[in-house]
Amino acid sequence: MILILDFGSQYSQLIARKVRSFSVYSQIVPFNTPVAEIRRLKPAGLILSGGPASVSEKGAPRIRREVLDLGVPILGICYGMQLLVHLLGGEVKPQQSSEYGRATLRHDSADPLLIKMPKRDTVWMSHNDAAVRLPKEWKTLASTDGCEQAVVRHSQRPLYGLQFHPEVHHTRHGELILRNFVFNVCHAQADWKLTDYIEHTCSEIRALLEAHPGARIVSATSGGVDSTVLAALLSRAAGDRFVPVFVDNGVLRAGEAETVRRNFREKIGIEVRFIDASEHFLACLAGVTDPEEKRRIIGREFVNVFLKELGPKDYLAQGTLYPDVIESVNVRGPSATIKTHHNRVKEILDLMEQGRVVEPLKELFKDEVRELGAKLGLPREMLWRQPFPGPGLAVRLLGEVTRERLEVLRQADRIVLEEIKAAGLYDKLWQSFAVLLPVKAVGVMGDSRTYANVVAVRAVESVDAMTADFAQLPWDVLGRIASRIINEVRGVNRVVYDISSKPPSTIEWE
Ligand code: XMP
Repeated sequence: MILILDFGSQYSQLIARKVRSFSVYSQIVPFNTPVAEIRRLKPAGLILSGGPASVSEKGAPRIRREVLDLGVPILGICYGMQLLVHLLGGEVKPQQSSEYGRATLRHDSADPLLIKMPKRDTVWMSHNDAAVRLPKEWKTLASTDGCEQAVVRHSQRPLYGLQFHPEVHHTRHGELILRNFVFNVCHAQADWKLTDYIEHTCSEIRALLEAHPGARIVSATSGGVDSTVLAALLSRAAGDRFVPVFVDNGVLRAGEAETVRRNFREKIGIEVRFIDASEHFLACLAGVTDPEEKRRIIGREFVNVFLKELGPKDYLAQGTLYPDVIESVNVRGPSATIKTHHNRVKEILDLMEQGRVVEPLKELFKDEVRELGAKLGLPREMLWRQPFPGPGLAVRLLGEVTRERLEVLRQADRIVLEEIKAAGLYDKLWQSFAVLLPVKAVGVMGDSRTYANVVAVRAVESVDAMTADFAQLPWDVLGRIASRIINEVRGVNRVVYDISSKPPSTIEWE
């Protein structure tokens, strides 16, 4: 495996994903991971990530010198390179003006790191500091106009530094450089396979169940990608000792519960244990209009309802993914903090302490989860569903959640999805849905004046939900959506399209 020591870079996950795409396992750990732990993991190579700090700053994040003496090849990227240079006696200084953006890299080197690399190529720079003097025995392999020491290495040992970011897409042959490092310098084996992951995980689960007769594995299933892949995996491992539980929280979309039930039966071959708690949830939500309060209630009641299904001997399975558990590095101090997440509420932490939680997807990125699902035989439509938030329609219905208002929203939302799918746009959009606004507007139908609800349509493009652009849907699709909603949904006389992007707006309206 290739171990990434994280100095707080926003790109560390990108590095790990790139390396895994070469079929080499890669893991991110905080920069201050003890040397003994690094040795135990037996990495074929180390990558020191970039980071926001400056090496000469007091308290800047460091690694111990012993890490450099492990005999493992090291690639320092940006801050990681500056740290190598600094630790080995070279000099790093702030530059007059920081270099940010595309630059042309030139080299004439036959070094294993640069094999097949064009002699002139575009790379992506983003730094304030640079190495102005290399340590003894180091040499320059490549430069840009603004940065003499753009690619550097130790003359004998496999220690390398890159001032630019090979992991970002703007560095044209960044993937080649990482590949060269992984295979030509570290001589890693391309043996990380998801099929092995399936076999390995299944045998672990089987061993757990064998050691605990009478225990079952219970998981919450929503029909979303992660919980569906988790269910397919657990069903293969545990057969009927796996119990997927679907909770109807009263704020689901039209036909959602039936679709999930049918898909599980037909595509995975398991029956979902179905709990209709809609009355209970709607009673808890009565009179509540504050979005965060809606979220809190739904989250709390979900845990209450779901955990009742867990017998005293049972294990809870969660579809937690790798990005949810990577320890985020606090480079301003020595401690590493773990992000809080809905899979880490108190009741679940208590179960974790008792060793009763299994999270078989927690080493995987989302794209790997989809690939795993495909290997388990799940059809495309189950693996490429648009995300749907846990608090469901409650946060798409501004104001109070009532049965009548939910029904209006459900019908409008069904029409949005039908038309988006019919236009072949579903897969191109990150999300597309309807929102019910808490205002009424005047309209005219036949000879009479109406005073009815307004529905907003939201459709966005995004890669990770951190930022999103409103989708430029064709007018005819928007027109069909509007006219169908107004004609088919009782109580709506106006449809508007949301043309705001994130930031500063958010994807959801609440
Ligand atoms: P925003 O509205 O913050 O949404 O731009 C970003 C992404 O997160 C989803 N979302 C949620 N998912 N529970 C969830 O499980 C929530 O409370 C929640 N709020 C937003 C949203 O659908 C979008 O994909």
